[in-house]
Amino acid sequence: MAEVTQAGDSKTAKVFIVPVKFQKKRLEDMKKSLSKKGLQYADTLSPDVTHVVSECESVDQVEKYFAKSGQKIPEAASVVSTQWLIDCLKASKIVEIKSSQVLKEIKISAKPEVSPAEENECNRNFPEWACQRKAKLEHLNKKLTSAVEVLQEFAELRDSNQDYSRALAFRRASSVLKSLPFQVQNVEQLKGLKDIGEHVKTVISDVLDHGSSSEVEEILKSEWFKKMKLFTSVFGIGPSTAKAWIERGWENLDDAQKDGCPSGDWRIAWGLAFFEDLNVPVGRIEAIAFSQIVQEEAECILPGVITTLVGGFRRGKSQGHDVDILLSHPTDGAEMGLLPKLIAALGKRGLVLIGHKEKNSFRSDILYQDFKLSARGQLDHFEKWLGICKFPKSFSTPKISKKSKPEINQPTPCTTDTDLKATADSSLDESMNELYEPKAKKTKGSEAIELEPNRISAAPRDWLARRVDLIIAPKSQYYYALVGWTGSKHFNRDARLYAQKKLGLKLTSHGLFNLEKREPLTAQSEEEVFSHLKLPYIDPADRNC
Ligand code: UTP
Ligand code: MN
Repeated sequence: MAEVTQAGDSKTAKVFIVPVKFQKKRLEDMKKSLSKKGLQYADTLSPDVTHVVSECESVDQVEKYFAKSGQKIPEAASVVSTQWLIDCLKASKIVEIKSSQVLKEIKISAKPEVSPAEENECNRNFPEWACQRKAKLEHLNKKLTSAVEVLQEFAELRDSNQDYSRALAFRRASSVLKSLPFQVQNVEQLKGLKDIGEHVKTVISDVLDHGSSSEVEEILKSEWFKKMKLFTSVFGIGPSTAKAWIERGWENLDDAQKDGCPSGDWRIAWGLAFFEDLNVPVGRIEAIAFSQIVQEEAECILPGVITTLVGGFRRGKSQGHDVDILLSHPTDGAEMGLLPKLIAALGKRGLVLIGHKEKNSFRSDILYQDFKLSARGQLDHFEKWLGICKFPKSFSTPKISKKSKPEINQPTPCTTDTDLKATADSSLDESMNELYEPKAKKTKGSEAIELEPNRISAAPRDWLARRVDLIIAPKSQYYYALVGWTGSKHFNRDARLYAQKKLGLKLTSHGLFNLEKREPLTAQSEEEVFSHLKLPYIDPADRNC
């Protein structure tokens, strides 16, 4: 969500109260209290609204209300209950949103509101591909999908050839369950649905009859699974390294630490040192605060730059494991050279800890080579920076008082104008970037980077380490990159397989290609990507399959 296209005063929280279900007097009182406490209130649903407060039970009710007047909830806004606003008024500041205060996407009712005949009809017409269906974050069959997804994860961690197709089969099943318009109460209701096999049906029956599946419980209890989950949650560790660690007899992360990370992989060294930080989920507010800074700095370096917060946040998630930001520019090619300068500018603001820049490895002939759709098939060739940033703790609770100084280490509006923007000498930017590359040489002013990851981590600090991916795409590939980097992973996997099997086309984050004619199908919008794919347009919030 949250396409960040504006900067400046949008750092300030702005509250809009949906007038539905409020008594007039109460609504007026709330507005008055907001003003009294110096909190910003929006009279209309403007794009800079950050919090939409409502008495409604679900987001779709709020959406319906706005739809009547042709309005849409701003992408960056959180839709929250009145209780959150009451907490803010009590605290006289914008407070963190508790999970109970986030409105659910749809109203979950205990009983299915669909009749058996309607269920049958729904199953008969159920679209075959996940990329043809809507899948919201909040759906009716969470208990079932979480059980099935444990089996999927187990197969992914075992990571042999057959396991990939097993994992995919489980994912297909859970993706079907996510899109069902009714709550499954017995397996009979799944009749006619192609992707729900016998194995999954047994698991579902178990959960429906006993509240849990014995197979899932066994996996969750198994030491191997627990260790694999722990090890693969370290930045830089995939299933094969995790397995190697288990084979060495390592029980926990201390064992890995004691070994001093013999692989020499910077990601593992920093991932271990900042394990705790990196395993605290990144909140939406932090992600937006950071992407706004990226937007400001990128705009100074390259006016007109397009900065978009992608990944799970674009799909409406309130938390994520990292922050993914896609950058482009309306003029193809203008984006070249932006990334090193951007890293340098963010570094000057004290926001960069460590990271690695990958060069653009795109060649058009790669696109026409045969491709295998596999577990690791989502790698692309964009220029990108994968790293760890330092998010000031103030990011998660933005101060909204106009009097208070900005909390971020920031010479506003941006750091680049004097020394970076003006220079045509890219070696300056490259040398600045080396400060943040692993194994940096000793350079004046880079003491912090010279220290061992563990020492930096243990030293007193007012920031949290957060994983950040910055991806640079030329405009000619931008909308495909946008679809690819918005995900979900399964949405991509499914759409790519669908394109191959149904249309004979190759879909990647770089474009859509006719392999026979050796022709790309260009797109000027996300909608056009879907129309080339002969798919109904699916909103990012509905790509959570
Ligand atoms: P993430 O792994 O960050 O997933 O990749 P996510 O959905 O945002 O999950 P959280 O919320 O951080 O935990 C973001 C999207 O970018 C794609 C993935 O397929 C996913 O849809 N991606 C990731 C690529 O296209 N290429 C890559 O190299 C990595
Ligand atoms: Mn992400």
